[in-house]
Amino acid sequence: MVALDDRPQTRSKRRLTLQTSDIAAETTVIRSLDWDRDRFDIEFSLENGTTYNSFLIRGEKVALVDTSHEKFRQLYLDTLTKLIDPQQIDYLIISHTEPDHSGLVGDVLDLNPNITIVGAKVAIQFLENMVHRPFKSQVVKSGERLDLGNGHGLEFVSAPNLHWPDTIFTYDTKTQTLFTCDAFGMHFCDDRTFDEELERIEQEYRHYYDCLMAPNARSVLSAIKRIGELPDVTTVATGHGPLLRYHLTDLMGRYQEWSQTQAKSVKTVGLFYVSGYGDGDRLAHAIAEGIGKTDVVVEAMDLRDAQPQDVRELVELSSGLVIGMPPQSGDMADPAKTAISTILAAANAKQAIGLFEVAGGDDESVDLISNQFREAGLTQGFPAIKLEGTPTEATYQLCEEAGTDLGQWLTRDRAMKQMKALDSDLDKALGRLSGGLYIITAKRGEVSSAMLASWVSQASFEPLGFTIAVAKDRAIESLMKVGDRFVLNILEEGNYQPLMKHFLKRFAPGADRFADIKTYPATNGSPILADSLAYLECEVVSRMECSDHWIVYSTVDAGRVAKADALTAVHHRKVGNHY
Ligand code: FEO
Repeated sequence: MVALDDRPQTRSKRRLTLQTSDIAAETTVIRSLDWDRDRFDIEFSLENGTTYNSFLIRGEKVALVDTSHEKFRQLYLDTLTKLIDPQQIDYLIISHTEPDHSGLVGDVLDLNPNITIVGAKVAIQFLENMVHRPFKSQVVKSGERLDLGNGHGLEFVSAPNLHWPDTIFTYDTKTQTLFTCDAFGMHFCDDRTFDEELERIEQEYRHYYDCLMAPNARSVLSAIKRIGELPDVTTVATGHGPLLRYHLTDLMGRYQEWSQTQAKSVKTVGLFYVSGYGDGDRLAHAIAEGIGKTDVVVEAMDLRDAQPQDVRELVELSSGLVIGMPPQSGDMADPAKTAISTILAAANAKQAIGLFEVAGGDDESVDLISNQFREAGLTQGFPAIKLEGTPTEATYQLCEEAGTDLGQWLTRDRAMKQMKALDSDLDKALGRLSGGLYIITAKRGEVSSAMLASWVSQASFEPLGFTIAVAKDRAIESLMKVGDRFVLNILEEGNYQPLMKHFLKRFAPGADRFADIKTYPATNGSPILADSLAYLECEVVSRMECSDHWIVYSTVDAGRVAKADALTAVHHRKVGNHY
């Protein structure tokens, strides 16, 4: 093992170091040890730093698997060039394009512009935007092989969503080593290359799974199934932390067990569309945003180059399906139509379906496809979204609300269970917390929304401010981000029923909440309800995530009371486990 260091070898000062070691025949790991990194993305804090692992495989041809984080630029490039003349590197395999693995792709290309970059189609597309120069590339799919010679036959395994849609694993038939990048990794930094001491790492292994992999548990199960189709795997060469060899069966088994448990409790929507066609990307994104408000996971797939096996797997693991209509003509029409036939054949009557047009006139007939799914017994998750001209902000709002409707339908059993579950003294006591009755109204451009609220409380004097708890799946939540403006309408005791009844209604996606309601515009543009007792004009200053709600802190710019002697309506509840 070789260690390179930019600082003296004491724990407190060893911020960035590099190690190399041979892990199998003609296979070397280059471990970038980031001793003091204390946070990864926004989702989790690190107690033991992390490592970024890169691998060199020397057959008759040479492949580098992933690179490192750009903070290791000099150390990594010095090490790589000591290990091999960069001109001898034939392939750079990109497992995943997040910068902790691909941060030095441009630098490696600088050393040898003739390298062929190998990756999933989406990875190559992402890289084009990252390195800003032409490069040789080879797109690979699950099951395809690349022969390096001298027995090193590489087989690729598609592993979308672990942790981005671009992920592929690489299996070397000679060394029985599977290179998995984020999957099966852990943020753990120390001198040992392998997982000899289980007790030392198992807590971090679980923490990493919970933060990074659990949200895509069904994708983990699909990937494990594909790994099971490979010959023996004796080493899992991960992109973070120790490589798995000594406790491989145990640790991979844990992923399977945790994912099976997780998959039972989380529902998935498979979202199929043709990227880059019409307005499909943005419409699909809006629908996914809406679904995401309901604790349902969305897994997206591009119909254009989807493999039948991938399509079938995603359909089978999904509780809901959303399809952006493909074009009727052109290059991508036939593969996309074939993919829709595959979806239809794999769908089952317990699923919900939602369809949307992406380019108006040139789309496949949404009604035709809709009928086919209805005949197969699927429930309509939302009415088919048809485009009339170019999508507007109102169209995107409609898509988001349609997605939320679908997600709420999929999670309805859980919501019912929650309502019935707590009939305890505690729950009844909690129900004695009372609040006023309010209606929040907001308008941004041509998009508007409203919500009945009672979890409202003054929170500061200077500036004047208050908080509102807004459930994550409320449509108005999208109009209550930091910097957004809205109106808090305060309802009057004895005179609130008509407004409360109206705004408690379930509105269809995109429906106008203010039809037949008397309003006039506030200075900030949001509607003031003419029949409210008082109103406040507000601006969102900050938000705090609290489980199933956002606590939204807002300051108040202006306000007025219509009737000086009237009282605010009070909301009395019986129980505290639902509204
Ligand atoms: Fe380790 Fe998703 O990057």
